[in-house]
Amino acid sequence: MNHNPIDQFHELKNRLTRFMMMYKFALDEMETKVEILKEEFQLLHDYNPIEHTKSRIKSFESIFRKVMRKGCGTSLEDIREGVRDIAGLRITCSFISDIYSISEMLQRQADLKIISIKDYIKNPKPNGYQSLHMLVQVPVYMSDRCEMVYVEVQIRTIAMDFWASLEHKIFYKYDESVPVQLLQELKEAADTAAELDRKMQRLHEEIKAIKSPQSS
Ligand code: GTP
Ligand code: MG
Repeated sequence: MNHNPIDQFHELKNRLTRFMMMYKFALDEMETKVEILKEEFQLLHDYNPIEHTKSRIKSFESIFRKVMRKGCGTSLEDIREGVRDIAGLRITCSFISDIYSISEMLQRQADLKIISIKDYIKNPKPNGYQSLHMLVQVPVYMSDRCEMVYVEVQIRTIAMDFWASLEHKIFYKYDESVPVQLLQELKEAADTAAELDRKMQRLHEEIKAIKSPQSS
């Protein structure tokens, strides 16, 4: 073993860079998958179910905070298993039905390993939060090995996304101790957003039925 501190530092830096790069590759692969689904769906159905996608890699600070909060170990192997949302992909869809279509299309892909699915649309969180969360593992092929990398996929409508980003900002602004009155109003806003989603879904189906009466 090399005890030269400079060499040790370089070795650590390389390991960390490689560790974080895996998540970038995994996200690149997921984004390509989603882009293919989007373009093919557009071609087949003359309609685009995806409004936009956004990916992010957790910063070292947030990884560290989560490790402390969860009390998991600090080796890279512990972090890999303990913090499964280092790579995140958010897919914003037009309608609720699109969320399930996209989720099913991803579930049918043989190279993706579905670890868990949390349906906060059928079962919203008590604060009103809605989204479909999928934890998947994507194979990343390198020169000498293949690694299954965790990616957290959140699929939601524009209304759900609008609500979640505002709620997130308020949560930070109040340093996580949001006044009860505001929590109540946020819950009401979430219900309004859900109602809007249901209304848009109905309209979407009515319009589809008019456009192709034989299939309705
Ligand atoms: P953590 O990732 O440790 O928070 O717990 P978990 O793995 O049980 O998380 P869950 O799948 O419930 O949610 C993970 C992510 O969904 C969060 O990091 C947020 O991006 C989003 N999320 C979950 N709940 C809320 C919420 O109440 N409000 C907002 N704005 N986002 C949420
Ligand atoms: Mg999380």
